[in-house]
Amino acid sequence: METSLSIHPDRFGAKEEAKYLTPGRVLRAEATSNGALMVCERGLLHVQFYDAFIVRITFDRLGKPAGSFSHSVILKPAFTEIQVEQNEQEVLLHSEHITVRISLNPARVDILDRSTGAVRLAEPENGIQFTARGEVACRKLSSPEERYYGFGEKAGFLNKRGERLVMWNTDVYAPHNQETDSLYVSIPYYLSVRGAEAHGILFDNTYKTAFDMREPSEMRFEAEGGALNYYYMAGPDTKSVIRQLGKLTGHAPLPPKWSLGYHQSRYSYETEQEVLDIANTFQEKGIPLDTIYLDIHYMDGYRVFTVDQERFPDIGKLVHELKERGIRIVTIVDPGVKADAEYEIYKEGMSLDLFCKDIEGRVYHGPVWPGRSAFPDFTSGRVRKWWGEKQQSLTDVGVAGIWNDMNEPSVFNESKTMDLDVLHDNDGHPGTHRELHNVYGLQMARASYEGLRNSLDGKRPFVLTRAGYAGIQRYAAVWTGDNRSFWEHLQMLIPMCLNLGLSGVPFCGADVGGFAHDTGADLLVRWTQAAAFTPYFRNHSEIKCGRQEPWMFGEETEKLVTEAIRLRYRWLPQLYLLMEEAARDGIPVMRPMFLEFPDDPEAYRIADQFLFGSNVVVAPMLRPDTTRRALYLPAGEWVDYWTQEWISGGRYILAHAPMDRIPLYVKADSALLEENVRMSTSAPSEQLTVHLYISNAASSVAYRIYEDDGESLDREGSGYFEAEGTAILDKGGRLTVEENVLSSGWTPVWSKRQLMIHTREEITSASWNGQEKQVVKSIHGNAIQYQISLF
Ligand code: NOJ
Repeated sequence: METSLSIHPDRFGAKEEAKYLTPGRVLRAEATSNGALMVCERGLLHVQFYDAFIVRITFDRLGKPAGSFSHSVILKPAFTEIQVEQNEQEVLLHSEHITVRISLNPARVDILDRSTGAVRLAEPENGIQFTARGEVACRKLSSPEERYYGFGEKAGFLNKRGERLVMWNTDVYAPHNQETDSLYVSIPYYLSVRGAEAHGILFDNTYKTAFDMREPSEMRFEAEGGALNYYYMAGPDTKSVIRQLGKLTGHAPLPPKWSLGYHQSRYSYETEQEVLDIANTFQEKGIPLDTIYLDIHYMDGYRVFTVDQERFPDIGKLVHELKERGIRIVTIVDPGVKADAEYEIYKEGMSLDLFCKDIEGRVYHGPVWPGRSAFPDFTSGRVRKWWGEKQQSLTDVGVAGIWNDMNEPSVFNESKTMDLDVLHDNDGHPGTHRELHNVYGLQMARASYEGLRNSLDGKRPFVLTRAGYAGIQRYAAVWTGDNRSFWEHLQMLIPMCLNLGLSGVPFCGADVGGFAHDTGADLLVRWTQAAAFTPYFRNHSEIKCGRQEPWMFGEETEKLVTEAIRLRYRWLPQLYLLMEEAARDGIPVMRPMFLEFPDDPEAYRIADQFLFGSNVVVAPMLRPDTTRRALYLPAGEWVDYWTQEWISGGRYILAHAPMDRIPLYVKADSALLEENVRMSTSAPSEQLTVHLYISNAASSVAYRIYEDDGESLDREGSGYFEAEGTAILDKGGRLTVEENVLSSGWTPVWSKRQLMIHTREEITSASWNGQEKQVVKSIHGNAIQYQISLF
């Protein structure tokens, strides 16, 4: 029953519009070592170069210069090579590549190309706005053809032109669709692409922020509070912007290899026996598996860092036994600590003053799974350390990784989260939950990551998180939360993961098969095939829907799902190579077509296929009862991975994909690494195959191999193997391969290595590093391939 509250005047009629103020004139400009400070009639404008391509612009209505504290930015503004020019109208700040032009009356910031003087990003009149209530906004000129990508984890299509997107970490069980504008992760960043030019903006403001791209000629980003504080990344191309974002917010470290295998989860596998049954079934059926997850039922009454002794009487033994069989255990750890005077963690948290409190000093309590709970203040280093150490109760029994869920934080109340006036320590920069809500998940993941780093004996931590903020990739992999077993959600997985990758988060994936709702046989098959190419690969489903382990839908489906999982294991060295590249260079594994083909206008239109690395088109089957789909191959030649047919690109083709196939196309004159399928990454990899797709005699193909022990955090210390090779086929049919070992600090365990050459030319002889090698020709349907054993 409703009360009179439903007819409260505030719910009707025009609300008072926020009255925007502007900085007014610049009264005084002062050069600093890396930029300039502009004292305006109202507030202070501060420009700081971080390097020749990255510039930070802040405006504070209360006149405070920009501080250096940030949850996301790790780059320091050490750059000083800039030139300053000033006349009566403007101040010009030049780095080698860009010019920041500050008009003095009224204050306004434009960014120009240093060499051509062309305007790269301009503000309209009154581009900087703020209200007396503390809201801030920034308007930038746009054009209808400008495309906007990134924004972290957002539902809907790839290009966000035409949308308004809100950043406020939210537990959304349903729905996830185009109009769901806030999900669990907020990354207030975009990549803009206009023609051949790209730039990025990171709006480092942790309050609720919004990006509005609905107007054709203008875009706007705004926040409920805090300073206007953004970083302009000059590109000038898309990959450069991603690299600049990586410089600012860091890269995802190379994860343990086992975390790139197949993971099986369920909310929940409720008992030790159930977990063993799952493991046994995988192994009996010969389905590769690296990890099983324990969701909330493993705990005693959902109390974090406890284990239910009836359901899991000897968790250490279970974990150990599974580990021996090559299967790891990851446990969920939520932030909510049950308010229970007899529970150690709660007692300790209370006595050590580790929980979030309101200004009167009362600990905030809210209901989550265990009932009334308190929430550690992860924005405090002291709390993060404590929490990180608590994880030792899990790692001591052999748990391999930690799954942080509900860390928006989600609270079962009307606002879905903590009260906004709760206070956070924020490492000595105290603020309210209204200000720091969006970083709670990031800081929890950080606590988990840092704790594991200390307790895992030099091994790489694996943390999975649901919530995050810009920079989350430094600590955790992200999965896209509570999706559903709908074909639409399988479709959405592609743009969601692509935009996460463009936002700095390469290690991501969605629940395979869909979390909520009952999945079906075909959906599970197609989903597993697609997810075999997402960096994070976990089948997970909820308590009230049907089971969806690979064997749940009969033999035929089991075979198809198993094949998709096997495909993942076959491609593992390629994935590992790409994850290593992401860790070093920031370029994601899953790439939108335009990232590799920026000059092809068609490439910008595509959100239902992607590139795995730079050279493989993956075009998942996204509709029920369908065995054909259109897909786009950019100009050049491509090879159908399955039939080895050579196809000319620069056009759409109709792919045939019976249920056992996902359309895959390898670019001509490129390479692909494969290994033998293992039951888990713990089993030794016996054979590495380098596939070389050679289009013509006289063309050359380069390849790269990266391998290490798969687990040491200090890769330099433990050593790694890295090699680069080039293969050239001459007109007389002779293949010459030269391989250069760049690092041999680690000796790979393969006992066999081979080259597999796919070409329409005839190969008559081959040499590898000067040694003559035997060439074995085989014919598969219409395709010819040449196998060359190296050892
Ligand atoms: C919500 C998470 O999104 C889901 O993956 C998990 O299974 C449930 N919480 C229960 O822990």
